[in-house]
Amino acid sequence: MEETMAPENVTEGLGFTREDFPPGFLFGAATSAYQIEGTRHGGAGICEWDTFAATPGNVVNAEDGSRGCDHYHRWPEDLDLMRDAGLDAYRFSISWSRVMPEGRGRVNAAGLDFYDRLLDGMVERGLSPWATLYHWELPAALADLGGWRNRDIADWFADYVDVVMRRLGDRIDGAAPINEPWCVAWLSHFIGQHAPGLRDIRATARAMHHVLLGHGRAIQAMRALGQTNLGAVMNLEFAQPADDGPEAAAAARTYDAIYNRWFLGGVLERRYPEEALAGLGPHMPKGWEQDLDLIAAPLDWIGINYYTRKLIAPAPGPWPALREVPGPLPRTDMGWEIYPDGIRHFLKRVNALVPAGTRIYVTENGMAASEPREDLSRIGYLRDHLAALRRAMAEGARLDGYFTWSLLDNYEWSLGYGKRFGLVHVDFDTMERTPKASWHALRAALTPAG
Ligand code: NOJ
Repeated sequence: MEETMAPENVTEGLGFTREDFPPGFLFGAATSAYQIEGTRHGGAGICEWDTFAATPGNVVNAEDGSRGCDHYHRWPEDLDLMRDAGLDAYRFSISWSRVMPEGRGRVNAAGLDFYDRLLDGMVERGLSPWATLYHWELPAALADLGGWRNRDIADWFADYVDVVMRRLGDRIDGAAPINEPWCVAWLSHFIGQHAPGLRDIRATARAMHHVLLGHGRAIQAMRALGQTNLGAVMNLEFAQPADDGPEAAAAARTYDAIYNRWFLGGVLERRYPEEALAGLGPHMPKGWEQDLDLIAAPLDWIGINYYTRKLIAPAPGPWPALREVPGPLPRTDMGWEIYPDGIRHFLKRVNALVPAGTRIYVTENGMAASEPREDLSRIGYLRDHLAALRRAMAEGARLDGYFTWSLLDNYEWSLGYGKRFGLVHVDFDTMERTPKASWHALRAALTPAG
């Protein structure tokens, strides 16, 4: 193990041990393919993020995922870091453009072989593999055909998922088709901050629907293969009115509808919220109502990605006629307010929505913090969010596991390599890994010897 970053500076721990959680509760870390692997090796195809990053102005320093954390070669060390921290599970993603460089047809054998080795490595170390099938590296050849705007993407995606699961499914303990559908649809087609960087309401409406259709088709394909423990990973953001007036309350409801209820509602309630259809309705693909059965097919688990809250105020202009207002709380390096009670809210809300027996996980939670030595703010962030979760559990909510984002500092999309979410520091020149104080704090909480 590498020399630590000043573990003596860990003055406070995470404030829990395994005994504070139910037996069988999973602790894990999460990453994604494009953010850590490095795409230069092993025959990965060009993806939408490569071309988005190569377009001036889209990404800080025009950085892309070509280097990542060189996880493609350093994965044994990365798996060791998780095992040594006492983690039970690893949430990773499989790259569509690595497995099928053109998105359809030709399969890159080296790509599947890589994930095959990675899975064996997890199993050897006693780490339970939790796979995401799409964490945003859309093959460029499919982007040329309209990407998520094109209804056919649901079938292309299901075909790719079928190829992956036939080869790798025997070692995958839990699977979700799509990471954070709001980012795939709204952030990428309405706000334009993620690839393909569009700002168009018709493109948005189509992507909002097709991303869930793709989810449904992939679940169907995996069920047909007998794959078990299938779920969905949603990013949920707590929307609060910026003031006490009825306009701010309505704006916050619209924000919640776009961000949270569209996806929770589609998958768990077989419907889209009125406040979102008010704007997107006229731009939806014809016959979308007929897809709701597929979209809302039963799931075994729901994953919550939670980071922050937003204060929402009304704004002039066309729908959605709202804006975000800066709040007073301490912020992470992303500029996101730290609001642990939001995770308690969502755990209870998801509990109330799911059918009995559905497992619930936090599939991402963490912060960007750049101070390299003490890492105390990250420890505090994790401690406070885990305490809020324990409170919700004491109030009767079910929670089956918690994955922190992220194992490693990595490529933070349009913000490049400058936002450090890792439990483990990565020197992007040498690729050297150094566990931070938060890694040590997690190990102290999770392993008997500490
Ligand atoms: C959500 C995404 O799944 C992940 O890719 C991203 O790095 C983190 N949140 C932090 O923004």
